[in-house]
Amino acid sequence: MSHVHLSRVNRGWVLRSHDHLSAHDVDAALHTVRSSGGGSVRWFVFEPTDAEIASAERHGLRADAPLLHMRCSLPLVADHRVAEGFVTRPFRPGVDNAAWLEVNARAFADHPEQGDWNEEVLVEQLAEPWFDAHGFLLHEREGSIAGFCWTQVHDHTVAHDHGRSDAHDHTHTAPVGEIYVIGVDPAFHGRGIGRSLTIAGFAHLAHRGLRQGMLYVAGDNTPAIALYESLGMTVVRRDHVFVGTIS
Ligand SMILES: CC(C)(COP(=O)(O)OP(=O)(O)OC[C@H]1O[C@@H](n2cnc3c(N)ncnc32)[C@H](O)[C@@H]1OP(=O)(O)O)[C@@H](O)C(=O)NCCC(=O)NCCS
Repeated sequence: MSHVHLSRVNRGWVLRSHDHLSAHDVDAALHTVRSSGGGSVRWFVFEPTDAEIASAERHGLRADAPLLHMRCSLPLVADHRVAEGFVTRPFRPGVDNAAWLEVNARAFADHPEQGDWNEEVLVEQLAEPWFDAHGFLLHEREGSIAGFCWTQVHDHTVAHDHGRSDAHDHTHTAPVGEIYVIGVDPAFHGRGIGRSLTIAGFAHLAHRGLRQGMLYVAGDNTPAIALYESLGMTVVRRDHVFVGTIS
């Protein structure tokens, strides 16, 4: 089953493939998950077949909101205005970890997969070869982190795998700049911080020479989709998502 990609992502598992999977493929992949201790599973499928839907049901996986892939040309045509009293600065590994984890948990309280990140997961991500502190921007007010925009560059010579379903695309196309994680502390929602951070993140990527921007967003995340569409991003692909726990 060489076309099946099963990876550990943070504390869960991600299953994806470039072709449709047979019942046998799915059984084998989930058997691997089970025999390696089990855990939460997210399976990304583009236009699932009846056989894939049946396999998901058989393993107790349910359909979650689809995953949208959104893209834009860089540089964005948008003014970068930071709300009064807020400053923009890069993340400082080791210094900002605890404060960032708290804001991340609050921003993603409804999305445990991202909101449950702990020090260990963060440190692992900060040690990735692609990590660049200058591409991990914070908006801060009076010493408190109000929001963050963490970018990542996908170079066509490097095959990244952080659990999303189109790493394959990146290996054969021009480099793409991704907004990897973006969040605003709920105490600061609705004040233009998310907009300013998105623009700052893509401006950083454009400055690094990237001409294509992208991000992934859950299809039920209305505020985020409205924000990205208002900045000219468009949905280029929609993956079905099956989720569940394998024990
Ligand atoms: C998405 C998010 C970053 C927006 O941050 P924010 O600072 O509240 O957003 P802004 O004040 O900059 O608003 C910018 C635009 O977002 C959209 N928006 C924001 N909140 C919205 C809401 N509740 N409903 C609909 N649209 C909304 C609007 O288009 C808004 O533009 P407008 O003010 O001209 O109407 C924030 O809601 C958040 O952190 N959510 C949780 C984490 C998350 O989902 N991250 C994105 C993962 S891809």
